[in-house]
Amino acid sequence: MNVSIRDYQASDFEVCRSLWAELTLYHQEIYEDPTIGGGDPGRGFEAYLNNTERRGTWVAELEGEVMAFSGLLVHWEEEGEIEPVIVSSPHRRKGIGTMLVRHVVEEAKKRKIRFLGARPVARNKDAISFFVKLGFNRMGQIELFQELSPLPERTWKPGIIIHGKELRY
Ligand SMILES: CC(C)(COP(=O)(O)OP(=O)(O)OC[C@H]1O[C@@H](n2cnc3c(N)ncnc32)[C@H](O)[C@@H]1OP(=O)(O)O)[C@@H](O)C(=O)NCCC(=O)NCCS
Repeated sequence: MNVSIRDYQASDFEVCRSLWAELTLYHQEIYEDPTIGGGDPGRGFEAYLNNTERRGTWVAELEGEVMAFSGLLVHWEEEGEIEPVIVSSPHRRKGIGTMLVRHVVEEAKKRKIRFLGARPVARNKDAISFFVKLGFNRMGQIELFQELSPLPERTWKPGIIIHGKELRY
């Protein structure tokens, strides 16, 4: 498998936007919430491109076809985040996500980032397994919230315990 990683360019816009939409639809599915993405699941990609914290975006290409991309955000001088990493579903479990993340890690090192994070949603068990395998095994901040307008059909799952407190996800 001859996969190459290169910088994102403007001609990758449509394919990367549809990969972004693929992730949004997955979030809709795992959170049983069709409103995620606000009616256009690819829309967040434009906001991502305009994010002033974005320092780079890289695509993975196989035989001329882009089927995955990833990027680096820098929040503070020393603190970076891998956002996003998306591999199209037919190409998963072939090591492409690993190649992309390793590339972003190298880019982060070049920029003297000390702490490189990843923020998968709590229900995204596949992504959590993926990042932990790649060495993202320290936990920084956790985000707790109340749901002020609950969806009647959604139940929050038990099973996460932090410092002896049970959280739902
Ligand atoms: C998460 C994702 C990027 C992984 O990309 P990938 O190319 O399939 O990952 P790799 O083949 O490099 O996997 C490396 C390791 O991660 C773990 N892993 C990857 N996908 C996994 C899954 N679905 N379930 C459990 N572990 C998984 C495994 O340990 C795997 O090693 P193995 O195949 O030898 O067991 C991909 O599944 C994806 O695009 N998901 C949808 C988008 C998403 O959720 N992105 C993360 C948002 S933060």
